[in-house]
Amino acid sequence: MHTYLETAAAETSMWVYFLSACAAGVALLYALWSWLIPAAVQYNAWGALLWHDVIVERALDLLTRSTRPKRLLRAVQKNATRGDPLSVISAIDHFCRHSEWAMNVGDEKGSILDSVVSELNPNTSLELGTYCGYSTVRIARLLPPGARLITLEFNPDYAAVARQVISWAGVQDKVELVEGPSGDLIPQMKERFGVETFDFVFLDHWKDRYLPDTNLLEECGLLRKGAVLLADNVICPGTPEYLAYIRNSPRYESRYFQSHLEYTKVEDGLEKSVFLG
Ligand SMILES: C[S@@+](CC[C@H](N)C(=O)[O-])C[C@H]1O[C@@H](n2cnc3c(N)ncnc32)[C@H](O)[C@@H]1O
Repeated sequence: MHTYLETAAAETSMWVYFLSACAAGVALLYALWSWLIPAAVQYNAWGALLWHDVIVERALDLLTRSTRPKRLLRAVQKNATRGDPLSVISAIDHFCRHSEWAMNVGDEKGSILDSVVSELNPNTSLELGTYCGYSTVRIARLLPPGARLITLEFNPDYAAVARQVISWAGVQDKVELVEGPSGDLIPQMKERFGVETFDFVFLDHWKDRYLPDTNLLEECGLLRKGAVLLADNVICPGTPEYLAYIRNSPRYESRYFQSHLEYTKVEDGLEKSVFLG
């Protein structure tokens, strides 16, 4: 009897020990995932991109059997008011700061984008790289009546989400989202899309395309004198060839606006370049 009680007590304490160890392990993993690693990569460019853009995105895609753009769209549909672009922008920023980082221009660089667009008041604009439509909504909401924004996206899944985000924000009448690679579409701007010249171009697609696409815009005569090119991520991930070209070409007057990589403390910035003709 005595031995039986002792064995039962030993088994119970083994289970208590095992369950406590499991609970501590889960708590530690949760703390690492939610606070410790995100805080550790806040100031580290490649750490932040590897953590947010590769590890977390893949893990959540697997766990939720969904994609980041679809989760972002759900956050917009749940938290933003239809027809209110500012509420769409806030819902995306909140989602990206508190749930999942995403590669939108973000709120901090977004306010620089806002000032450039408001100051220029462009009639015809081009955006290279739509993703989920965050910057498209930011730009479109500031455009004067009758103005036009063409945005190019070569990933059909992103384009499908962006269409819904843009229409949730109520700015669809000002936006033409065109699916396809910028290198193929830019030469078609005059004939197929009836564009004479662009007043404003926002470059935010893959970084190795900034320079060739700028040269294409020049060769196709799509930049009017005084047109503004605004390039995102010129420091992180970085666009060294583009910066060397745009800062040294006598055809541009260029200025750097320092900021941070979206939703982090890593240095990044926007390069604003005025085409002198
Ligand atoms: C950084 S994200 C754009 C973010 C968006 N501008 C925002 O701030 O909300 C870059 C996007 O460009 C798209 N992209 C990259 N290279 C492209 C190209 N050559 N033509 C069209 N889309 C491209 C990618 O699929 C991706 O969705």
